[in-house]
Amino acid sequence: MITTDIKQAVQLLANNEVIGIPTETVYGLAGNAYSNDAIKKIFTLKNRPFYNPLIVHIKSVDFLNDVACDIPDMAIKLAEKFWPGPLTLILKKQPHISDLITSGKETVAIRVPNHPLTLALLAKIPFPLAAPSANPFGSISPTSAQHVASYFNDNLAIILDGGICEKGVESTIVGFDNNQPILYRHGAIAVETLEQVVGKLQTQISNDTKPTAPGMLSRHYAPHTPTFLTNNVAEQLRAFSGKKIGLLLFEKQHLDQHDIHQEILSPTGDLEEAAKNLYAALHRLDGSRLDVIVVEEFPDKGLGKTINDRLNRATKK
Ligand code: TXA
Ligand code: MG
Repeated sequence: MITTDIKQAVQLLANNEVIGIPTETVYGLAGNAYSNDAIKKIFTLKNRPFYNPLIVHIKSVDFLNDVACDIPDMAIKLAEKFWPGPLTLILKKQPHISDLITSGKETVAIRVPNHPLTLALLAKIPFPLAAPSANPFGSISPTSAQHVASYFNDNLAIILDGGICEKGVESTIVGFDNNQPILYRHGAIAVETLEQVVGKLQTQISNDTKPTAPGMLSRHYAPHTPTFLTNNVAEQLRAFSGKKIGLLLFEKQHLDQHDIHQEILSPTGDLEEAAKNLYAALHRLDGSRLDVIVVEEFPDKGLGKTINDRLNRATKK
């Protein structure tokens, strides 16, 4: 059931049930981070392998010490600058944080989500929320309550409806090595924006399927329809002539092809707007009974890097 009833959400979470919650990035499948029962339900619902750890959502930076310890000064600086917001920090975990959340790692992923409904919910509960994105493992992330319902309606008591996600792509993930920040996942905060605070960032963005890699499995965010990434749309369309094609484009229509389903992510060429619209457009294309989806490579700057990262994973064979 899609609802805005926070009271009911509090009750369900206190009973170690799992619910859908909105965040500014994507919707999450949330449960009591201090309950192994709730955490197991999340993994089962998502069909997620236990080697892929979860993010813990806390109500404010003041609660960071409840879940993390030995926190580098730079982490505090980043948290104070970007929270509530789409930045996830990987920090040394407090001993009581369950191995199920961290996949046995000594570190835990933490953020304060910036959504009024979820912040109001966090204010009413005495525990943090473990929450991965609310999609079955490997599929397109949800940016509306309806997306979550289409995946899990029969198996979730409620989905809190917070409207369309403002950012539309997942949080940026930063960890530390010897107190030096390292970028683990491109996300809703552009690298350039982070670098204004921390200086040049090292990156450790994994493309392999090793269980120890920080959740960056090479194939992810994927539509069911065969999907192809290209920097030459015209050529790709010729290769698929005769097929029912869907097109995902940045700012301009592909003019000579009025017969194909085209999704333009930002007519004004704004990468933030494109990121916000990305997953909804992929959901629509995937639901349009097409033979193939062709997606255009984005400019390699700002949130274009995040969009390209997701499109690369969505099109990996
Ligand atoms: O925007 C977001 O981050 C959304 C919303 C719901 O908060 N959540 C999200 O969760 O994207 P999920 O589970 O889809 O992605 C979490 C990522 C995974 O790639 C996981 O491997 C990584 O965080 N992660 C979690 N704990 C980690 C750890 N201790 N070390 C390295 N990576 C970790
Ligand atoms: Mg996810």
